[in-house]
Amino acid sequence: MPFACRLISGSLLALALQSVPAAAQYPDKPITVIVPFAAGGPTDVVARLVGDHMSRTLGQTLVVENIGGAGGTLGMTRAAQAQPDGYTIAVGNMGTQSAAPALYPNLRYDPAKSFAQVGIVNHTPQAIVAKKDTPAKTLKEFIDYLKANHTKLAYGHAGVGSISHVSGLVFNAKFGFTPNLVPYRGTALAIRDLVGGQIDYMVDQSLNVIPQIQAGTIKIYAVAAPERLLSLPDVPTTGEAGIDFNFSAWNAMVAPKDTPKEIVAVLADALSKALDDPAIQKRYIELGSSAPKGADRGPTGLQSLVESEVTRITPVIKAAGVSTN
Ligand code: MLT
Repeated sequence: MPFACRLISGSLLALALQSVPAAAQYPDKPITVIVPFAAGGPTDVVARLVGDHMSRTLGQTLVVENIGGAGGTLGMTRAAQAQPDGYTIAVGNMGTQSAAPALYPNLRYDPAKSFAQVGIVNHTPQAIVAKKDTPAKTLKEFIDYLKANHTKLAYGHAGVGSISHVSGLVFNAKFGFTPNLVPYRGTALAIRDLVGGQIDYMVDQSLNVIPQIQAGTIKIYAVAAPERLLSLPDVPTTGEAGIDFNFSAWNAMVAPKDTPKEIVAVLADALSKALDDPAIQKRYIELGSSAPKGADRGPTGLQSLVESEVTRITPVIKAAGVSTN
């Protein structure tokens, strides 16, 4: 065998020998989970909820690192470029993993190709909410109120390409509303300003708004889903309120693309165990969220969700005239 070939096959063998015990011992130290939005928001809440359960399954702590900015694409870029050793993973969402490519021409990752997909974490419908002293009582009244006032009002979102940005712009485009758009590093921060009255309205995940609705600090007009939420039984769906507008969010756990398959399988199994836990399912219901079904939740289910959502959402973004400006 020529020397160069012997060298290459020797290196491949060494690599293979290194990765087998590494995967077999995995994890033997804490795992960093990048959350590309602010602490306390929807992505952060579900990442910590399932991360805590996964820590118990894996016998190692999952440490959340919040890296917000640019609609979550800063944190996801960091995740895509991390060492593919299973010790840096991330929880992205429908925005970072399906809307971002249509909005960021220089995006430094491809949601379908730059990650090893671990699994879908949850699905959550958006809700239409406004600051507490908004005069409208129903969604129809709120839309009339927006018709008269939209140019003077502020709409808060989690950055260009985030779910709250895209769902809000689809909603606004439907009626021709052009509010002042105010970006935050996550909807935890935006909701805080909605409570404080610095911004006027949002289309945000039920997961983020339910605690505020229960505390009576903001108003809700409708849940943008075909069915009412168990945790908000008195809140109409958009359809019941006479508006054709449904928008569902999801979160996804990913690892850098060359993470060994054995390690991805360990993570996917731990995530699946978390989703099967009745305590997590109960918390999801309280937050208006739901766990994906068994066969759809793992790496293959997430890969097809990402691919189909990029295909579905790109024309929606173009039609709504959403841009990075
Ligand atoms: C979003 O709008 O994309 C999310 O609500 C962001 C977040 O998790 O804060």
